[in-house]
Amino acid sequence: MSSSEYPDYVPRNVEAWTKANAEHTGARARAAWASDEITWGIFQTPESEVDVLGDVTGLDVVELGCGTAYFSAWLSKRGARPVGVDPTPAQLATAREMQKEFGLEFPLVEGVGEDVPLPDAAFDLAFSEYGAAIWADPYRWIPEAARLLRPQGRLVFMRNSTLVVLFQRDAGGTDERLQRPQRGLNRIEWADGEVEFQLPHGELVALLRDSGFDVERLVELYPPDDAETHVFYDFVTVEWARKWPAEELWVARKR
Ligand SMILES: C[S@@+](CC[C@H](N)C(=O)[O-])C[C@H]1O[C@@H](n2cnc3c(N)ncnc32)[C@H](O)[C@@H]1O
Repeated sequence: MSSSEYPDYVPRNVEAWTKANAEHTGARARAAWASDEITWGIFQTPESEVDVLGDVTGLDVVELGCGTAYFSAWLSKRGARPVGVDPTPAQLATAREMQKEFGLEFPLVEGVGEDVPLPDAAFDLAFSEYGAAIWADPYRWIPEAARLLRPQGRLVFMRNSTLVVLFQRDAGGTDERLQRPQRGLNRIEWADGEVEFQLPHGELVALLRDSGFDVERLVELYPPDDAETHVFYDFVTVEWARKWPAEELWVARKR
């Protein structure tokens, strides 16, 4: 799929991520690439606490919505062979700069999670940390992940919890009262023009199963004790997230 054929919401989100790249993801990239510890999400939960990835040595890995590709870099340092996919050229340009700076090369491909220009059954692990997991249409990117994986391959992804999305105000911030119905929840158009996707648990389990996956784990995350509200992703405070899980990790295995 060429960029002119992308679904309607992709150019809007690419514009938002081009701006985010200039404002903050570029700076965050260097710190993340420099670190050796794998952490997940806005509260930086250590992988050692959740243990969803296991040993990745020798695995062919595709990151769907890699952004500045720091997560792929972490997996590469642990012996995996990652390929990063992302539709935002500015994010990929930062990822390439980081590759040069840190002397760690792996393929970076411009594309969307809904239609990845890579072959069938070429990967052992497909994953996304707030990439395709929230920015791509789940009814397209999850079957696409299944296509890319070998039998028994794993799909691991992190997204906002359904709960935090139900409590998130249109104008910004997260309330302690429900802000929207769960029934019919999927595509969310935010006031700033970005489009996100959030399928509730029942529909997501059905979609994963219909796409050929068995769900192995759903980890609802609370922030680590020393976590603070994120400087940029401050739509949810650490105080809120200590009471309700704001982030969730899914692990599914292709049959
Ligand atoms: C939050 S970043 C994810 C990367 C990194 N894990 C992080 O948290 O910074 C979100 C990325 O999703 C990408 N993205 C937007 N729409 C996408 C789509 N349809 N498919 C795959 N990735 C998409 C954006 O370009 C952006 O780089």
